[in-house]
Amino acid sequence: MPTSTPTPDRVLVVDDAATSVHLARVRDASTSPTDFIRHARQLGVHLGLAAVADLPVREVEVTTPLGPAPAREPAVPIVAVPVLRAGLGLLQGLQEALPTLVVGMLGLERDEETLEAREYYRNIPPAKGAWVLVLEPMLATGGSAAAAVRSVADLEPARVTVVSVVATQQAVDRILEADPEAHVVTAALDPGLDDNGFIVPGLGDFGDRLFGTPG
Ligand code: URA
Repeated sequence: MPTSTPTPDRVLVVDDAATSVHLARVRDASTSPTDFIRHARQLGVHLGLAAVADLPVREVEVTTPLGPAPAREPAVPIVAVPVLRAGLGLLQGLQEALPTLVVGMLGLERDEETLEAREYYRNIPPAKGAWVLVLEPMLATGGSAAAAVRSVADLEPARVTVVSVVATQQAVDRILEADPEAHVVTAALDPGLDDNGFIVPGLGDFGDRLFGTPG
């Protein structure tokens, strides 16, 4: 079980030793792009497992070389929805940790007129009754994550969890305002934003560091 810092019941800060090691590496400005990808993937494993720690399971049977053995499998589908493009950094880790995972994609961009997140691409498999994990590593204002949570609501999932690496309290509040039933899992709650909208201390631009694009 992950350790956690006490927070409102729908918000889980995963700060066990293993997760913190990977968080330190992605925060460090001297981490190479290759290592950033590797540690982001590991964060996907740890945060993904924390997000499904209380997933309903059903009892099944598997056959070992010596005969039948009791086993368990998820009782509900799990659907990951990375928000393009930074969310892709967590996806592979989740796929490794959760073998039954199916994946949708959501593209959001800032509408320069309204300054709100605007959806430009959505391809998400049916998710009725599923646990939907929205992958959005940096929850700064929470605008895109709130838009993602609203977007998946019409799929009638049983639970929506935003999986992030670093979040601010204002982002968490905005997500819970968009969907009071939503959950948020993060490796850190940072104090705030700078004048450019970056989380401080944060880790810089997650997408740029993941894909090696200039900031
Ligand atoms: N997006 C990022 O990648 N980093 C931030 O600090 C804020 C938003």
